[in-house]
Amino acid sequence: MEHALDITLTVNGTRVRHRVEPREHLIDFLREKLGLTGSHVGCEHGVCGACTLRVDGQIVRGCLMLAVQANGCRVDTVEGLSDSKELARLQKAFHEKNALQCGFCTPGMLLAAQDLVLKNKKFTREEIRQHMSGNYCRCTGYQAIVDAIEEVVNG
Ligand code: FES
Ligand code: FES
Repeated sequence: MEHALDITLTVNGTRVRHRVEPREHLIDFLREKLGLTGSHVGCEHGVCGACTLRVDGQIVRGCLMLAVQANGCRVDTVEGLSDSKELARLQKAFHEKNALQCGFCTPGMLLAAQDLVLKNKKFTREEIRQHMSGNYCRCTGYQAIVDAIEEVVNG
């Protein structure tokens, strides 16, 4: 690793120090170096939302951010937010409303939906659809996903 750089970041509450290639994407670093494979890789160019993560409180595409750009940041993945129970209400609603089939999109969906939940206000179905429009699902047809999110944000 000729041009490798050392980065230090906090991942799901744990401080991590690692050597990475400058071109390594954050999602690949998390999945391959830290074994956090809950966030998925779909399109690899910022379209599908499967790789959605939270960095310093903002949702980002893990395939569009380099690991070196996360140096000094706090990164939260679906594993950490599940363990802390932050996603529990959404997970329950997704389960009850049948808002997943293969589950490939679900980690990204949950992170994006939680971003809406944290705004702590009510949203119309159209606003929910708009917010979630960057997260693709090839299985469900979206209706049940919107139902589940609506139940949590407006419940
Ligand atoms: S894998 Fe990142 S947006 Fe599709
Ligand atoms: S549940 Fe299969 S891609 Fe969404």
